[in-house]
Amino acid sequence: MESIVITGAGTGLGKELALLYAQKGYEIILVGRRKEPLQCVQQQIQSCKGRAVAFPLDITNYEQVHQTAEALCHTYNITMLINNAGIGHFGPLEHMTEQHIHEMIDTNVKGTIYMTKAFLPYFKTLPEANIMNIISTAGLRGKVNESVYVASKFAVRGFSESLVKELAETNVAVTAVYMGGMNTPFWDDSNHIQDRSRLRSPKQVAETIINEYKRQAEIIVE
Ligand SMILES: NC(=O)c1ccc[n+]([C@@H]2O[C@H](COP(=O)([O-])OP(=O)(O)OC[C@H]3O[C@@H](n4cnc5c(N)ncnc54)[C@H](OP(=O)(O)O)[C@@H]3O)[C@@H](O)[C@H]2O)c1
Repeated sequence: MESIVITGAGTGLGKELALLYAQKGYEIILVGRRKEPLQCVQQQIQSCKGRAVAFPLDITNYEQVHQTAEALCHTYNITMLINNAGIGHFGPLEHMTEQHIHEMIDTNVKGTIYMTKAFLPYFKTLPEANIMNIISTAGLRGKVNESVYVASKFAVRGFSESLVKELAETNVAVTAVYMGGMNTPFWDDSNHIQDRSRLRSPKQVAETIINEYKRQAEIIVE
């Protein structure tokens, strides 16, 4: 059975990708910092006769990421990594705290890089492997009161586009996914979006991503 590692799989888009890929017969390795949401998703998948394992991990911790990747690659037949975990803080730049800046850069940029670097050597030994980076339309154009978030997502875009080229002659496909707003817990502590109930559901977006996915370099869901 093939396994997929999904970061940020306890909530929002990561959770919906986990549920849908589990329905398609993949075993899901659910990654996130908090154990409880991961276990809820695990139970939901298992109650539908699917397979999932909850794996608490902070993707900003380089050592922990590498140790976890090594352990997982020995145990499971992992053929795909979905770098979905992300954090957003919004508002004018002069109101952004140092902690907010670190959180976004560490999670969105470094977390994605650490995870990819940790799994890549193993992926290169497989007949076929897939890396999907969940970005945002914030990785396509600048936005008001989103400067640091946008900077972090442009960074992941640059990382993804470069890896597509670097890995072109290998068995590893890299896909960057750009989507607009979704109604998820991402907005729980923010008033940046006036009416989040008007945003698309993460389930809708997850379905579109999975339906459109053909190992291409980018998917745009606007
Ligand atoms: N919602 C939107 O409007 C929107 C639009 C475009 C793109 N996106 C992007 O879509 C992705 C998913 O976001 P979402 O909307 O589904 O938000 P979400 O529900 O808040 O999901 C983010 C997940 O990331 C996990 N996470 C955060 N920091 C982590 C860390 N250091 N290590 C491991 N896991 C971590 C969180 O779990 P823990 O807190 O338990 O770690 C959470 O489950 C993000 O990359 C986001 O930037 C969102």
